[in-house]
Amino acid sequence: MMVLGIETSCDETAAAVVSSGRHILSNVVWSQIAIHHPYGGVVPELASRKHVEKIVPVVEKALSRAGKEPTDLDGVAVTCGPGLIGALLVGVSFAKAFAYSCQLPLVGVNHLEGHLAAVYLAPEPPPFPFVALLVSGGHTNLYYVLEPTLFEHMGQTRDDAAGEAFDKVAKMLGLGYPGGPAIDDLSRQGDPNRIRFPRALLNSAGFDFSFSGIKTAVARYVDSQQGCLSIEDIAAGFQEAVVDVLVQKAMLAVQTKKSKHLAVVGGVASNSRLRIRVKEEAVRAGVSVHIPRPELCTDNAAMVAAVGYHYLRQGKYSGLNLDAYSKVANC
Ligand code: KG4
Ligand code: ZN
Repeated sequence: MMVLGIETSCDETAAAVVSSGRHILSNVVWSQIAIHHPYGGVVPELASRKHVEKIVPVVEKALSRAGKEPTDLDGVAVTCGPGLIGALLVGVSFAKAFAYSCQLPLVGVNHLEGHLAAVYLAPEPPPFPFVALLVSGGHTNLYYVLEPTLFEHMGQTRDDAAGEAFDKVAKMLGLGYPGGPAIDDLSRQGDPNRIRFPRALLNSAGFDFSFSGIKTAVARYVDSQQGCLSIEDIAAGFQEAVVDVLVQKAMLAVQTKKSKHLAVVGGVASNSRLRIRVKEEAVRAGVSVHIPRPELCTDNAAMVAAVGYHYLRQGKYSGLNLDAYSKVANC
């Protein structure tokens, strides 16, 4: 089964062709970073306008790179939420028109399910059931994944998402947008143990997270130093604190479920320190760890096509009344 995936939930216009929910034939991502960079964050109006401009060429490129015609496809999967509503509407409207004109089944996909499905695109996906840590710009969630489309929600952040904390701290340090990769790079030159930032909820609150306090702690530290700062050490200390919490909570979830398999997905899963630390802890605990390659951790349409495959196989289609949802993605 050949599925065209479409993703426009934030600042990437993306399209991909995936066969059998596993094999990527093409994966095209047009990043808007350069458009939003001068503003220090994503400007929703600009994002929507760029998606309108890029959606057709990006889909054309995905089809041509895969060597496929619309008639070779078996379905169209599109992210319908959560995300920026104007941005989502571009992908959803395009997907509806494309599916209707090519007489293909359409399926609306939850963006978070998309991130989880990125692990199925790896050469060795985790066997079911497995624990998954999803860390992105808008979410920090722990799941117990029973089947490709069946999850138990174990925990989440009570305030900021991990990626949001990276972005806000990067802004504070004058590193610009997007903050995660900038902090990741700078931290390589810093000492992760020189400044100890708080690890919120580490020994309490089950599987919930909190990242708003660490942002304030970094701001206070910056103020207290009156200009004598090593931003490398601040970046490394902040990153170490976030990674500590993420790794320890993920390992606690694995122990609680007596699972032997852990997946880490979402944009923050491309963080080099998190990748190293989670692998170290997993090896120690005899747990197999599955982290998609970095370009499949950040937003892409191959993961959307992978989810679409499972729903289409189950005969679960969306109608042409498919809508976009900024928060609850019950599409
Ligand atoms: O999954 P994603 O591409 O989009 C959302 O669904 O939010 O995640 C984007 C987030 C941003 O907050 C970005 O700063 C963060 O992932 N991110 C990183 C890294 N690369 C992206 N955070 C830490 N280290 C990275 N290398
Ligand atoms: Zn995402």
